[in-house]
Amino acid sequence: MPPSTPTRPRILMCPPTHYGIEYEINPWMNRSHGAERELAIRQWETLRATLVGLGVDVQELTPQPGLPDLVFTANAGLMFHNRFLSSRFKHDVRARESPVFDAWFAEHGFTVEHLPNEMFHEGAGDALFCGETLFAGYRQRSDAAAHQWVGEHWGVRCLPLELVNPRFYHLDTCFCPLAPDVALYFPEAFDAYGRRVLETHIPRLIPVVEVEAHRFGCNAVVVGNTVVHNSRCPQLAVTLREAGYQSIEVELDEFLKAGGSAKCLTLRLDGEEAASWKRNG
Ligand code: ARG
Repeated sequence: MPPSTPTRPRILMCPPTHYGIEYEINPWMNRSHGAERELAIRQWETLRATLVGLGVDVQELTPQPGLPDLVFTANAGLMFHNRFLSSRFKHDVRARESPVFDAWFAEHGFTVEHLPNEMFHEGAGDALFCGETLFAGYRQRSDAAAHQWVGEHWGVRCLPLELVNPRFYHLDTCFCPLAPDVALYFPEAFDAYGRRVLETHIPRLIPVVEVEAHRFGCNAVVVGNTVVHNSRCPQLAVTLREAGYQSIEVELDEFLKAGGSAKCLTLRLDGEEAASWKRNG
């Protein structure tokens, strides 16, 4: 096989022009504790500038009034090569985002795929490649059956993990692959079986401590050897450095109010760093 040429990472983001806490669909959201729009915009701009500074080609989706969670592009769908599997959201308030995401992907040359009816799947929020394997979170939002369908449809090994804590309702809130054999995780978000699955398949698992997991430390964006994550996760920063990664903190607290942080605000279009298909073409 010829050596693969490194391409510029591509990430989809959506400016928080219409972001806000307008409904409550996870334990973090509280309408009486709304987000400060101006501050959210500044925090989002800092994240965007940080990624651009790391050489990322940031693509922007046009924000839409009435879709406050459209900023969380990780939930648009799941990427595999040039294929975009559109999410089927559990909540109607978010299902309204799908036509907007689908139109963007179709216009940008991706093949837009859909799940069979009645199966919930919340995209890259709940399914993350670590090497050849797709690790998939179910129970809170996505269905185990949907993950199984994806594995068969794409011909990839898919390992479902039950998410047992409603605060960690998407897999990307408690699990972050860094490389094909390295990942961050918050052990208490999984049951004993899930922890065993992770321990068996990922040689280097780095636990994130509870306070920092509650600051969404696991919800990090990985670009090469750099990990961008929410502020005030000092132990995570040290652990990452010891493991050979550069840690960059960006305060994203306005998004924590919706149950999201760095990773949820991004969707990698060219394959996550840890995904083997990214390298193998
Ligand atoms: N308010 C959004 C929801 O509950 C937040 C989504 C965060 N996204 C993520 N990939 N964890 O659906």
